[in-house]
Amino acid sequence: GKVHYYDFVLKEANFTRLCSTKSMLTVNGSFPGPEIRVHKGDTAFVNVHNHGKYGITIHWHGVREPRNPWSDGPENITQCPIPPGTSFLQEIKFTTEEGTLWWHAHSDWSRASIHGAIIILPAIGTSYPYPKPHAEDTIVLASWFKGDVMAIIEEALATGGDPNTSDAFTINGQPGDLYNCSSNSTYRLMVDYGKRYLLRIINAVMNEEMFFGIANHSLTVVGMDAAYLKPIKNSYIMITPGQTMNVLVTADQEPSHYYMAGSPFADTTAPFDNTTTTAILQYRGNYTPPPSPFFPVLPAYNDKYAAMNFTARLRSLASRAHPVNVPKKIDKRIFITVSVNQIYCPNASCAGPNGNRLAASLNNISFQTPKIDILEAYYWSLPGVYNATFPDRPPYFFNFTGDVENISLAPCLDTAVKMIKYGAAVEIIFQGTNLGAPENHPMHQHGYSFYVVGMGWGNFDKKSDPKTYNLVDPPEVNTFGVPKNGWLTIRFIADNPGVWFQHCHLERHTTWGMDTVLIVKNGNTAVTRMRPPPHYMPPCH
Ligand code: C2O
Ligand code: CU
Repeated sequence: GKVHYYDFVLKEANFTRLCSTKSMLTVNGSFPGPEIRVHKGDTAFVNVHNHGKYGITIHWHGVREPRNPWSDGPENITQCPIPPGTSFLQEIKFTTEEGTLWWHAHSDWSRASIHGAIIILPAIGTSYPYPKPHAEDTIVLASWFKGDVMAIIEEALATGGDPNTSDAFTINGQPGDLYNCSSNSTYRLMVDYGKRYLLRIINAVMNEEMFFGIANHSLTVVGMDAAYLKPIKNSYIMITPGQTMNVLVTADQEPSHYYMAGSPFADTTAPFDNTTTTAILQYRGNYTPPPSPFFPVLPAYNDKYAAMNFTARLRSLASRAHPVNVPKKIDKRIFITVSVNQIYCPNASCAGPNGNRLAASLNNISFQTPKIDILEAYYWSLPGVYNATFPDRPPYFFNFTGDVENISLAPCLDTAVKMIKYGAAVEIIFQGTNLGAPENHPMHQHGYSFYVVGMGWGNFDKKSDPKTYNLVDPPEVNTFGVPKNGWLTIRFIADNPGVWFQHCHLERHTTWGMDTVLIVKNGNTAVTRMRPPPHYMPPCH
């Protein structure tokens, strides 16, 4: 493969949206940030120069980084932050991924303004498993906050309440003309009648899963998280934060202006941004534009059936060239409850429900981010940084999806990680619970893609539910929603040694502790062991 070099300069820049201007941290002064474009088999070296005011890290979301967690990026999980005024060179090898991924900051809430697309074209000499599109475009969905995001999350943590919701969603950095002061800058995608386009859609939103559609045009989903799918035709997609979807659209409607729009899917009592971002699909040529563009029909914000109906149709392509390797026999089975909780808070300013502070947990453990990174502590055997005590099941079983709003199940605070043998066939069953505000949780795994073999509503039933598993063509992804009041089963082979973060990709849940770390141990041969660290890791204090 080819080697590509990029310089990412983290620096403040001024942006005006929704009639007000703010300074925010960006990569190279752009929002969204620069695109990385490679072929499968290539390597990218990205030199990250921090010209900002605080320490920061960058993560390559969905890239497996075989044997090389040193470049993965989550702050105090695989590295300490890059101090202001210094640089860190990261190596990103594209081995098996093909399609669309993205990169983002992985320190506090800085990813709101620091993210961009990663485009992985088929290896030289191979092609898409569908007819070549006429052109391609990238659609990045993101959140816009009028205030400073770092201050918003700091304030929420100080009071224990919910953080402010965003003020807008954006498409390629622009809110679109349903918002104040936004019509002139609305993003436009120009198309020619009769041609076919590949849209690479990325959900970089902070706290909401999104419905997305284009008026009058059907969407054909052909890939997700840099793996191919059997084509699915639908009028909308549901995409969680962290996910990417490759979608074919044919410009086969009467030449005109059509809205593409994104609005939240959030079936929850927790506060969320319920606004709609738009961009315009515009045909080239002469026609009388409508007074206002046609609008797509999107499901209601709380339509969990619309979300599930779409999600349940996702299937791997499972072709000769793109085979499925889902483990049939399991060596290690882990059952993880996923909850939002309240923690007793003696401080009078506690703004969470019942005067408690909000927290979140996996198996009733609310993850505490350590002061130095777990990867270096593991590699150099430094004691006192983490505990290898993450359990295989919750402390006790109850009716998880029944009416348990009032159960006072206070989570323990711990930096608990799970040790996994090299090469083990792993199954994880995520069980949503009705504690706190029940909602979907898009769980993300660093260092791996996994197969989604099953999902359903209610409590997982270990007798009947495994009979519904799809072991033939399950989708292969890096992020997937655990349905509200439901469960999700994933499988993968633990063949990538390293220290790999696992967390909900709703940013407020990550912050509250809906996280753990899988440490996959070394194998017995040189090529199944973690690589040694580069000598220039950012310093830890
Ligand atoms: Cu998109 Cu921990 O990552
Ligand atoms: Cu969550």
